Amino acid sequence: MKRAGKKFMLLFATAMALPAFAADLRVDFLPQFNGAPLTFDALKYQTAAGQKISVSRLDLLASEIALRRADGIWLGQTNWFAYISTRDGKTSFSLEHIPPGNYDRVRFQIGLPPQINHADAAQWPAGHALNPDVNHLYWGWSREYVFLALEGGWQNSGSESGFSFHLATDRELMTVELPVALDLNSSSEIQIALDIGKIFSAPNKIELSETSNATHSRTNDSLADQLRQNIEGAFAIVGQASRLSLTQKTSETGATPVLPLIAPNATPYRFSFSKFFPQPDLPRDNPLTGEGVALGGKLFFDRRLSSNNRLSCATCHRPNDAFSDPRRFSRGVGGEIGTRNAMALENLAWKDSFFWDGRAKTLREQALQPIQNPIEMHESLADVVAKISADTYYPRLFANAFGSPEITSDKIARALEQFLLVQVSFDSKYDRVIIGATNFTAQEQRGFKLFNTEYDPYHGQFGADCFHCHGGPLLQSQDFANNGLDSAFTDLGRYKITQRAGDAGKFSVPSLRNVAVTAPYMHDGRFRTLEEVVEHYCTGMKRSATLDPNLAKHPDGGVPLSTDDKKALVAFLKTLTDEKYLRAAAPPALAAK
Ligand code: HEC
Ligand code: HEC
Repeated sequence: MKRAGKKFMLLFATAMALPAFAADLRVDFLPQFNGAPLTFDALKYQTAAGQKISVSRLDLLASEIALRRADGIWLGQTNWFAYISTRDGKTSFSLEHIPPGNYDRVRFQIGLPPQINHADAAQWPAGHALNPDVNHLYWGWSREYVFLALEGGWQNSGSESGFSFHLATDRELMTVELPVALDLNSSSEIQIALDIGKIFSAPNKIELSETSNATHSRTNDSLADQLRQNIEGAFAIVGQASRLSLTQKTSETGATPVLPLIAPNATPYRFSFSKFFPQPDLPRDNPLTGEGVALGGKLFFDRRLSSNNRLSCATCHRPNDAFSDPRRFSRGVGGEIGTRNAMALENLAWKDSFFWDGRAKTLREQALQPIQNPIEMHESLADVVAKISADTYYPRLFANAFGSPEITSDKIARALEQFLLVQVSFDSKYDRVIIGATNFTAQEQRGFKLFNTEYDPYHGQFGADCFHCHGGPLLQSQDFANNGLDSAFTDLGRYKITQRAGDAGKFSVPSLRNVAVTAPYMHDGRFRTLEEVVEHYCTGMKRSATLDPNLAKHPDGGVPLSTDDKKALVAFLKTLTDEKYLRAAAPPALAAK
C-alpha cells in the first residue's frame, strides 16, 4: 500500500501552521460476515434472504479521508486515495502527519470524486492506488473506475451460480462516517470491519436471482442504489490500539535491496508505449539501456543457452507469431513435450507475475527457469556462462551494458529481463481506431461492442461480457481466473503455487493483443481457432466451484450469441494484430547466431 505522504489539512478553513509534532494512523480493513472473519471461496454463508453464498472478491477504492477533532472541526486530505483488495491481503494504509489531539469521528468515501473519476487514468505513476495496473478497477471502455467490486458464488437450486456486483458511476459514490475515540498523541491503529452479511441485509434485503445477480451501476439500476445504501452502513470500528512500533511493523519486507548494475557510458533506452496504457512499474535496480536490451536480444536468439545448442528462447517464442509457438506443446532439447502452451510475449512490463500459474514474480527470476528446465533447454547456468564467456563478442557486450566483461547468470538474467520488458505492442488497427486514425468495419464495430458489453438480459444488455477479464487498453488483467474449460482439473494452475482451494483451475488471464497469430489457445493449447474459443464462451462453459462469478452468472453453457455475433467477435479480435510488432520483434541483427 502506498503511503499517503501528504499532510493533514483543515477542511473548509484557511491554512494554519501545523504543530511540529504529528502522529501517524494506520487503518486496517477487516472483511467479515455477520461479525466473524470472512473465509474466501467457501460456499457456506447464509444471507438474510436465506441463500447460501461464497465470496471470491472484495476490492474497493477509498478517497477523501477526514477525522473530526473534539472541537468539531474536520481535518483531512483531499488528494488521498487507497486501494483495498481483501482477498490478496492488501487491507491497510497509513495516514501521516496528523496533528495530535482527540478525534471523535472518521469519514471517508468509497469511490472517487467525479473530477478524479473522469480524469486521464494514464497519469498516475507506477504503484499509485489509481494506476489501473495496480487496482484492476478501471473500466477502460467507459473511462471510469469501479468503486467497489464484490463477487462470489451462490447456490441456485442445486447448482452453483455466480454474482458480480460492480458499484460505479458518480451517482453511486458512497460516504462512510463512523464514531471513533482517538487520542492521537502517539501513533495509532484502527480496525474497520466491512461486513458482507450487512451488504446483503440492511437496510435493503438483497435476494439473488437470475435477474439480480449482477450490477454494473447503469442508470435506473435499483440494485446498485440498494447496494450503495447497504454498503454505507456495513462498516464498523472493531478495534483500535496505540502503535509504538509502527515504523518497524510497516517497513518493507526487509529483503536486501539489489543494486543497479550499469555501465557508466550506457545509453538510456527510450521506453515508449500507448498514451492509454497505465504507467508501468519498471524494475528500479535494472535500468533499461540500449546496450542491455540489445544484449538481451542476442541472448534470446542464442541456441547456446540449451544443452545441445539447438534451442533458443525463440524456438518456442517465435518473433513473427508475437513470440508464441504454433505447436500445442513445445518440444524441449530431448524432444520431450510439456503440458502447457508457450505464452505469447508482449507488454510484460505491465505484468507482476509470470507463467500460466504466476510462479515467477519478476522477469529476471523467470528468464533463468527455461534454461534449466529439464524438458525445455535443460542446461546448467554454469555451462551457459562458460559457453558464452568463450565467445569473441559477448564479454565486450556485457561490459558495454553492465560495466565489466565478466559473465554471470545474474547479468544474463538482467539482459533478458531488459529485452523482454521492451517488447511493447500498441499499434494494431484497434489502437488506430481509438485515436481516430481509422475506422472499424461495421462487423468489427459490432464485435468491439459485444466484447465490451455485459450479458444482462433483464437490463436489456446482450453482450459477450469479455471485458471483465480482458478489458482495458492492454486487453489483459493481472488476475487469475477459471474461464470454465473443465469441471475437473488435470492441471490445477494457480493452486499449485498458492495451495488455496479457491485457486484450483485458475490461470493467468492472457492478453488478447495479437491473438490472431498466437494459436493454439488456452494454457494447454486445446483450441486451434478463434472460432473455437468463441464457441467455448457461448456453449462450452463448464461449471465448477472456482468458475469465475462473471461467467458463472451466465446461463448454462455460456453467453448465447447468434452466428453473426460470433463472427463479429472474431472479426474484432483480429483487429488486435500489430503487424509492426510482429516484424520488429526479430531484427536480422538479433536473429543471427
Ligand atoms: C521448450 C520451449 C520453451 C523455451 C525454449 C522457452 N520457453 Fe518461455 N515459455 C514456454 C512455455 C511452455 C511457457 C508457459 C509455461 C508455464 O506456464 O508453465 C513459457 C512462458 C514464458 C514466459 C511467461 C510469459 C508470461 O506472460 O507470463 C516468459 C517471459 C518466457 N517464457 C520467456 C522465455 C525466455 C526468456 C526463454 C529463453 C531463456 C524461454 N522462455 C524459453 C516455453 C518455452
Ligand atoms: C472470467 C474471466 C474471463 C472472461 C469473462 C473471459 N475470459 Fe478469455 N480467458 C480467461 C482466462 C483465465 C484465459 C486463460 C485460460 C486458460 O488457459 O486456462 C482466457 C483465454 C482466452 C483466450 C486464449 C488466449 C491465449 O493466448 O491462449 C481467448 C482468445 C479469450 N480468452 C477470449 C475471450 C473472449 C472473446 C471472451 C468473451 C466472450 C472472454 N475471453 C471472456 C478469462 C476470461
